[in-house]
Amino acid sequence: MSWLWTTEDMIAVMAGRPFGTPPEGITGISIDSRSITPGEAFFAIKGDRVDGHDYASMATANGASLLVVSEARLPAMGRLTVPMIVVEDVLAALGRLGLASRERSQAQIIAVTGSVGKTTTKEMLRHVLAPSGKVHASVASFNNHWGVPLTLARMPEDTDYGVFEVGMNHPGEIRPLVGMIRPDVAIITTIAPAHLGNFKNIKEIAAAKAEIFEGLEPGGHVVLNRDNDQFNFLDRTAQSLGIEHIHSFGQHAKAEFRLAEFNGSDENSTLWLTIGGETLEVALGAPGRHIAENALAALGVVRIVGADMQKAIEALATLRPEKGRGKRHRLLIGGGSFTLIDESYNANPASMRAAIALLAASEPTGRGRRIAVLGDMLEMGEYAQKVHTDLAVPLLAAGIEHVWLAGAEMAGLKESLPESVHVEYRENTDELTDYVLNSVAPGDVLMVKSSLGIGFGKIVAALLDKFPAFADTQREF
Ligand SMILES: Nc1ncnc2c1ncn2[C@@H]1O[C@H](COP(=O)(O)OP(=O)(O)OP(=O)(O)O)[C@@H](O)[C@H]1O
Ligand SMILES: [Mg+2]
Repeated sequence: MSWLWTTEDMIAVMAGRPFGTPPEGITGISIDSRSITPGEAFFAIKGDRVDGHDYASMATANGASLLVVSEARLPAMGRLTVPMIVVEDVLAALGRLGLASRERSQAQIIAVTGSVGKTTTKEMLRHVLAPSGKVHASVASFNNHWGVPLTLARMPEDTDYGVFEVGMNHPGEIRPLVGMIRPDVAIITTIAPAHLGNFKNIKEIAAAKAEIFEGLEPGGHVVLNRDNDQFNFLDRTAQSLGIEHIHSFGQHAKAEFRLAEFNGSDENSTLWLTIGGETLEVALGAPGRHIAENALAALGVVRIVGADMQKAIEALATLRPEKGRGKRHRLLIGGGSFTLIDESYNANPASMRAAIALLAASEPTGRGRRIAVLGDMLEMGEYAQKVHTDLAVPLLAAGIEHVWLAGAEMAGLKESLPESVHVEYRENTDELTDYVLNSVAPGDVLMVKSSLGIGFGKIVAALLDKFPAFADTQREF
């Protein structure tokens, strides 16, 4: 049996106290009592909403072979007979295990940050590196003060490539995370106004992302977006920290990993790239220039870490857009069908523009319409009004004639669109859902997008519920 960790090592690393008779080792780590599988250790951390200690008995019922709990909460665990390791602070103990994991690892470690495209790029890296070795990568968007140590602590000892998503909402959050990860390669996908309400301006966002350079291993590499306005700032910042290997990707003539040509259709795209003096043709199983940019960064990393480029390119052809991030559905309606582009996972000004471009590139059939179904972008602070009214620009440039809106901020966009655009406005998501369900028609292409907290996932779910699938044209990753 190869353990993720032996209990002996865990006790030593976490300075814990065994309680009961611990198993010889554990096969995995979970912080979620619902999804834990037998043989795994349950770490009772305080998450975003709940305290894991309250779910220890459920974790035990679901097969946890070991609990890691805090000294303070031990008395409340009285009735449980499952073995435990008792520590002062469970999250800190997870962090120590994460550090020990990094210490023992021989893997090449890659960290991905940026205002948008972190998860997409991380999943691409998982995909393109898999043919070259054993990959361990963050689950979903586990990119914060518990997601990063959890992902580290879960990394098997024989991992060849470790891929970590690193996120932040405020200045100073990336520094401690990257200090644990100690990446050999750090990517900044792009800098854009996300969480703008927590920052003075975009430069401050760039500076916060640049914290990722501070944790880079000596001799490490950084990968920057050459097309982004903040490139020069990030480049200078990396140089001032003595980083020698600064790579860039993008359409810019000086980009080291360059997108020479992009040819997109509804469901896929073809790219011509120049990487290391070679011209490569890449078929991508997902549409959108923004996805192509993420792929370019991922292939740049393939080159940097010396993985198999040909196999990486082959892997990209089978990649599909994920749920909430561009996944397409063709649904039956009244003797015909319509297309739903599910962009409901999240939204900020950059990803809104990317999604509007996806809609623009899609062809309605018959009398069908291109319809943008848009909800508020959150955390924009004093910029909220401006970033919403400004969406009129990409909508008009893309020739989108039907715009269905809900949310307080989207009222501003409604006002800024000219009469030539058919606008429907509802105050909240539920009212808009009713309207969408009753108004979508054969031939339409509908793109649905809002911030996660606004919950346009409900509109997608309601459409999928009401209208049967024509054919699953695209699978998830
Ligand atoms: N390079 C890009 N430029 C613009 N939009 C992008 C880019 N990459 C992805 N997107 C879009 O941004 C949204 C979020 O993508 P993704 O989940 O990859 O980002 P993220 O940075 O992981 O977000 P989060 O901070 O919520 O974890 C999706 O709608 C996606 O299609
Ligand atoms: Mg993410």
